[in-house]
Amino acid sequence: MRATEILIEEHVMIKQVLNSLSRAKEYIENGKLPSKSFFEKAIRFSHDFSDKFHHFKEEFLMFGILAQKKKGYLDWEIGALRYQHERCRKCIKEIEAAVNGNIEENEILTTTLLENIAMYISILQRHIYQEDNVFLPMVEKLLPEEEKQFILEQFSKEEDRIGGKNMYESCKKLADELAAMIEDENILIEKT
Ligand SMILES: [Fe+2]
Ligand SMILES: [Fe+2]
Repeated sequence: MRATEILIEEHVMIKQVLNSLSRAKEYIENGKLPSKSFFEKAIRFSHDFSDKFHHFKEEFLMFGILAQKKKGYLDWEIGALRYQHERCRKCIKEIEAAVNGNIEENEILTTTLLENIAMYISILQRHIYQEDNVFLPMVEKLLPEEEKQFILEQFSKEEDRIGGKNMYESCKKLADELAAMIEDENILIEKT
């Protein structure tokens, strides 16, 4: 598999989780709160897969090399992608703080949870769209095959460093569990 294809495939898994979070958002908007364990799994997925496994490869390997290639011409655009990664991390921190608080009793925490889920989904959807449709095609077009091969090798080293195939499989399991959980009405608490 090519390095760009690996990232596109990982985006599919991230979008699966965004879909589950989107369902959770609709429930909250309509007076029902998914259980704490749903959010704990979503937070774990975001830390382990989106940040450690995926964003790191983009920020420090692929887009770094692309920026060098374009000699400063893409600095703003790549800076924006990094900024979006940071904003997503901030949303997850806020989501974590809200679900660890007394959210069942506290409407302000529920509002914090809702606004950060909405922001997280929205920023990450646009971010993935831009990567899939602008940046990854640019990598394919601008980088010679040997550089793409070099990136692929770096990806593999980096993945091994953070748990390799086991890490990928456990994150896939989390994504599937989240999708199944949000279909189960027993995880919902009345929160009007
Ligand atoms: Fe990204
Ligand atoms: Fe990405």
